[in-house]
Amino acid sequence: FSPALFPVYFQDKNCAVVVIDVFRATSAICSAIDNGVTGVIPVATIDEAYEYKEKGFLVGAERQAEVVEGFDFGNSPITFKSGKFSGQDIVLTTTNGTKAVELAKEASNVVIGSFANLDAVCKYLERLDKDVILFCAGWKDRFNLEDTLFAGAVVEKLAENLRFADLQDSAIASKDLYLKAKDDLFGFLSESSHRKRLSKLNLEEDILYCLKLNQSKNVPVLLNGKIVKG
Ligand code: MLT
Repeated sequence: FSPALFPVYFQDKNCAVVVIDVFRATSAICSAIDNGVTGVIPVATIDEAYEYKEKGFLVGAERQAEVVEGFDFGNSPITFKSGKFSGQDIVLTTTNGTKAVELAKEASNVVIGSFANLDAVCKYLERLDKDVILFCAGWKDRFNLEDTLFAGAVVEKLAENLRFADLQDSAIASKDLYLKAKDDLFGFLSESSHRKRLSKLNLEEDILYCLKLNQSKNVPVLLNGKIVKG
């Protein structure tokens, strides 16, 4: 397999796409699955989210890092820790993360990656033995640091075992960045735009959660439009 960063071109849809939105969508999805949520239905728009709400679903919606009025919750991974949504399916729309899942859905395997399940995702990818696209959701189609650092962490872990190493330049760059940052991810990200955005909203607890490695052994995957435990 050959890890590459987005922008990608699905030359071959028989690949694994790791959707990465460290702050906070993919960390929140991992937390939901870890805390008993049976499935997360990702939707790209607020309109679609309203439709689900009208049908009686539990629906989370985030825009500009805040909970959208009228919905049940937002995008904080802490929301799920009490287990109050355990045993239920939920619907989620976020600024970038759920849009990225929508864009990735053509791939044969879509995996949700976050620092919380870094090792589990790497083991899953090794077992799968397919080409890997590390799809960094970024912020409104722009590069961001935290997603790139996670991509770099995956490249670093997988690179050791690559039999036919074919790292794209973006993968090499993300690995180098991760190696520079890995001893203090929180400090390294102090000037990053979304960390500052979240800090202004007093969401430091979320930031710390999202940067804590390997809290989870679960690998959420997209199956028939729903993210479930893989
Ligand atoms: C997103 O999907 O854009 C992010 O998770 C935004 C956020 O941190 O709420």
